[in-house]
Amino acid sequence: MSGWPRSVERGHPLERRVPGAPQRLVYGAAREVEIHPDREALVDAAAEHVVALARAAVAARGRFTIALAGGGTPRPVYERLAHPTFACRIDWSRARIFFGDERCVPPDHPESNYRMVREALLDRVPIDPANVHRIAGEDDPEKAARDYEQTLREQLDGSFDLVLLGMGDDGHTASLFPGSPALDEARRWVLPTESTRPHPMWRITLTPVVIDAAAAVTFLVAGASKAERLREVLEGGAGAESLPAARIRPTDGALRWMVDADAASQLRRRP
Ligand code: 6PG
Repeated sequence: MSGWPRSVERGHPLERRVPGAPQRLVYGAAREVEIHPDREALVDAAAEHVVALARAAVAARGRFTIALAGGGTPRPVYERLAHPTFACRIDWSRARIFFGDERCVPPDHPESNYRMVREALLDRVPIDPANVHRIAGEDDPEKAARDYEQTLREQLDGSFDLVLLGMGDDGHTASLFPGSPALDEARRWVLPTESTRPHPMWRITLTPVVIDAAAAVTFLVAGASKAERLREVLEGGAGAESLPAARIRPTDGALRWMVDADAASQLRRRP
């Protein structure tokens, strides 16, 4: 067996896979899981996925609206999209960049999702800054949330073409944390939330209301530390329903999980 991480114990169906093409699992309606042999393959596939959706949206509606995830997993995807072999395949004049969440810090703060995206992608592609809509993490949280919601309602035709999301090992996504009242919000698209990660701080997050309205929602999950939670989210278990990532259910849009073999190593579903 070569190419599969040690976390795929002997006898697991993934073990017999020849590294290369992803394995696919389907969990119910429009909920597809792509399992990639390693993080590198996941990054490449995720970049291809964004290019494909961008090109389809531009062909259909003349523009592409995307909400980007923060955290560490998507950064190499953004860097891949900035690479000439990918960047030349997106018409950046038609792209409209938004954020799924933001920490309440200034835009040049090391913990700012905007700063991460700017360094990994925005500074390296020909996008008009007027088409990049960051969340004002430096403002009062409630004001920042209301202002961003106003921006979304002005800029979107009601929904995103694509929302990229990550998942924490506690099952949070965007800045929707377990027990957060924002999980039960039925009207607002953007809310301030309190988090303890990476330390106690306020954050601003999209709510499930606007995420579930998207034409496509794609989770990017990698690493063995996510394996147990990913199994709970996808295959159920005590308390699974309370996990924020499990609460994301696109109304009509496609829900896709793009994961690496480490993160998938505890899935019981057989491909
Ligand atoms: C953030 C993200 C957050 C992230 C998860 C997973 O602002 O940190 O929006 O929801 O996606 O914490 O982070 P990793 O990809 O770094 O594991």
